[in-house]
Amino acid sequence: MSRIIAIANQKGGVGKTTTTANLGAAFAERGSQVLLIDFDPQSSLSLSLGFEVLKLERTVYDALLDSGNPVSLDSVTRPTSMPGLFLAPSSIELARAEPELIGEMSREYFLKNAIQASERAYDFILIDCSPSLGILTTNALAAADQVLVPVQADYLAFRGADLLIRTTVEKVRRRLNPRLELAGVLVTMFNSRTTHAREVLDEIRATYGEKVFRTVIKQSTRIKEAPVSGEPLLTYDPHNVLSQAYRELALEIEAPACAREDRVPPEAGRQKTAEPQEADLQEAKAQEN
Ligand SMILES: Nc1ncnc2c1ncn2[C@@H]1O[C@H](COP(=O)(O)OP(=O)(O)O)[C@@H](O)[C@H]1O
Ligand SMILES: [Mg+2]
Repeated sequence: MSRIIAIANQKGGVGKTTTTANLGAAFAERGSQVLLIDFDPQSSLSLSLGFEVLKLERTVYDALLDSGNPVSLDSVTRPTSMPGLFLAPSSIELARAEPELIGEMSREYFLKNAIQASERAYDFILIDCSPSLGILTTNALAAADQVLVPVQADYLAFRGADLLIRTTVEKVRRRLNPRLELAGVLVTMFNSRTTHAREVLDEIRATYGEKVFRTVIKQSTRIKEAPVSGEPLLTYDPHNVLSQAYRELALEIEAPACAREDRVPPEAGRQKTAEPQEADLQEAKAQEN
């Protein structure tokens, strides 16, 4: 059975799409069959994996709302540049789904039904949510087993994510999907050079304890280059410190208990794996200025 993880945060620019692409790539690299669902009308995930969204005949919209011409999720799913990694792309058409769904019965379960009708066997299905708490995100949370919340180590960003977890996720669990679990809170774009970021990281850990992934995704502009080439950072720059971080995240999610036992404490881990890359050093310099 697939494990379905929604990557959600109502704030834009927190690393949802980057995390979906690279976590998916990390699972695929370990031999899993992975489906990524682009569930944002802005189509950043599809674009970052090299898809010409304007030329796509069918997208996830068609699998969601058939408009009298039903198509399956399988028929809109495409292979990516990486073996084992598949994408159900989106386009701006998905924005139409919001008002269309409002008038439907059981409107929260359209994505769940589309996934259940898929005949392919995936180990993981990752849903890249849009930056809103509208009906599309509710569909993603109703379909998912778990929700992964990326959050920047920034006070207001953290408080926003906290609201999502305490209100929306709780509400979905009570009313639509009692199975929904918090996979974890992922700290992204972390800049250890600022006191504010370190303090907020401490606060996030104090609030969510074990539910905060040990893997912290550092800030690095290198990650912006991968989408230009239409591939995940993991294949674009396999030795990059962030590629390694996403592999560690995949390990934590696949086997939380043994990942914790096997791993050295985060500080030591960082020293071991985080040989500073040229791009990191430049980034650090830029931050100093
Ligand atoms: N670890 C990181 N360090 C620096 N920039 C990042 C990092 N992760 C993502 N970004 C960049 O930040 C922007 C927003 O990331 P994205 O994944 O699209 O967020 P979201 O999907 O939440 O809107 C993108 O330009 C992306 O390349
Ligand atoms: Mg996005």
